[in-house]
Amino acid sequence: MKNILFVASEGVPFMKTGGLADVVGSLPKCVDKKYFDIRVMLPKYTCMKQEYKDMLTYKTHFYMDFNWKNEYVGILEAVVDGITYYFIDNESYFGGFKPYSGNVLDDITKFTFFCKAALSAMPLLDYRPDVIHCHDWQTGLIPVYLKERFQANEYFRGIKSIMTIHNLKFQGRWDIKTVRNISGLSDYYFAPDKLESYKDANLLKGGLVFADAITTVSDTYAEEIKTSFYGEGLDGLLNARSRDLRGIVNGIDYDEYCPEKDAFIEYKYDAKNFRKEKVKNKRALQKELGLTEDDKKMMIGIVSRLTDQKGFDLIAYVMDELCQDDVQIVVLGTGEEQYENMFRHFDWKYNDKVSANIYYSEEMSHKIYGSCDAFLMPSLFEPCGLSQLMALRYGTIPIVRETGGLKDTVEPYNEYENKGTGFSFTNYNAHEMLATIRYAEKIYYDRKREWNKMIDRAMAVDFSWNVSALKYQEMYDWLIG
Ligand code: ADP
Ligand code: GLC
Repeated sequence: MKNILFVASEGVPFMKTGGLADVVGSLPKCVDKKYFDIRVMLPKYTCMKQEYKDMLTYKTHFYMDFNWKNEYVGILEAVVDGITYYFIDNESYFGGFKPYSGNVLDDITKFTFFCKAALSAMPLLDYRPDVIHCHDWQTGLIPVYLKERFQANEYFRGIKSIMTIHNLKFQGRWDIKTVRNISGLSDYYFAPDKLESYKDANLLKGGLVFADAITTVSDTYAEEIKTSFYGEGLDGLLNARSRDLRGIVNGIDYDEYCPEKDAFIEYKYDAKNFRKEKVKNKRALQKELGLTEDDKKMMIGIVSRLTDQKGFDLIAYVMDELCQDDVQIVVLGTGEEQYENMFRHFDWKYNDKVSANIYYSEEMSHKIYGSCDAFLMPSLFEPCGLSQLMALRYGTIPIVRETGGLKDTVEPYNEYENKGTGFSFTNYNAHEMLATIRYAEKIYYDRKREWNKMIDRAMAVDFSWNVSALKYQEMYDWLIG
C-alpha cells in the first residue's frame, strides 16, 4: 500500500471557494484503493458550516514554536466516503468569516503556520505518507520545510513531495525579512535560486524549487506557464524545471454532478431524454428568476468567481450589444465589486433578459448547469476550469476562449464535419467573443438538430476522474519507485 497525503487550504465538502476544493474533495475518491491510501489534511476553519464541524472528532494536540510564540495545534479527524480527513486546529489562525482574509500578510502567516503544523502533526498520526501532495501557494512551504528541519527526524526521511499549481497568479509574496521571521527559515533559503523572487519572499516559488515533482491542471497550461505572458514572473523557473513539470487535466465528480439524479434540479434527465426534459428546468428557472418565460429563448449561463481572470472585461464591453440579441443571460457569482455592479446594472437595464445573482449557492449553480442552453467562460487564462466540464456533463454547450484547460476540454464545433462539443475563440478580444456567441445563436435557432447533436456529443465525453486519476497514480508510483 502506498500512502499519499494531500495537504490543501480547501476541499469539498468542508470548505470551498473555487475549483481547488472540488479537486481536493473528488480526486482522492477515484484513486485505486487497492494500491493507494490517500488522505487529506486541511485547516479547521471556524467559518466551516456547523454540520461539517459536527463530523470532526478530536484526535490529539501538541504545542509548537511558531513566530516567537508557543502555539496550540489540535488534530481532528473525519471520514467521508471512505476518505480520511485530518484537520489542523488553532482558532487564532483559522478564525474569521472566510478562509482567506484577503490581507496578504495575515494569509501568509496563517498558511505558514498551517505548513509547519501539518508536518509537525504527521508523526502523531498512525499513518506515514510516502508522498505529500501539496496544492497551490498556501502549501508551498511544505516541500521547503520537508527538506530543511524535518529531515532530522527519521520519520520524514525519504518522503517525497509534489507541488500542484492550480493557479499561478497567487503566489504568497511578502518582504523577505518578515517572512524569514515568521517562517524561521535561515537566510540561506532567501536567495534567488530558492524563495526569493523579485526581491520578495515567495512561498509558491519555495514549493516549486524544493518539490520532487511539479504538476499543473491541464497540458496547455503546463506549456503556457513557461511563457512570460502566463508565467506570472516564474516562467524562468518553470522552464528550468520543465522536465519535472507535467500537466494532468482535472476531472469532476460524476456522482455529484449528474443530471439523472441531481437533487438540486427539478426535472432529471439523461443523454436520451434531454430533448424533452431539460427544457422543463429552463422554464422553472425563468420563472424563479423573473425572466421572460419562453422555452425557445436561448439561455446562456455563467457561474464564476467574478475576477478579471474569467474574462469579464470582454463581457462588460459588449454586454449592451449582446442584449440586443434574442438571448437570456443568467449569472451566478461573487467577487470584485466592479463586476458585481456591472451585472447588477445590466439586470436592472434588461430586466426580462438578464438575471444577476450575486451570491454563492451550490443549489443555484446546479440549476444553471441543468437549465441553460449554453455556458459562457471567456477566460483571460484558465489553468483547467471545472465549470465548463460541469456544463458539458449537463449538456449545456460551453462557449470559451481557447486557453489552458478550456482549450484541452472543449472541442470547437465544426459544422462541416459534424464534430465538436462547444464554441471557442482565440484572441482575448470582445468582438471575437461576441461573434462566437452569435455563431452559437445561429446554430441554436436555425439548426436545432445540429445543436442537439452537439449536446449528444457533449454529454458523451468523459471528464470523470477515470483517466486523470491513473496519471496521478503513475506519477506516485514513479516517485516512490
Ligand atoms: P476557479 O477554481 O478558478 O474558480 P473552476 O471552474 O475550476 O474555477 O471552479 C469553479 C467552481 O466553483 C465550480 O465548481 C463552480 O460551480 C463553483 N462556483 C463558482 N462561483 C460559484 C457561486 N457563486 N456559487 C456556487 N458555485 C460557484
Ligand atoms: C484554479 C483555477 C481553475 C482550476 C482549479 C482547480 O482555481 O483557476 O482553472 O480548474 O484551480 O484545479
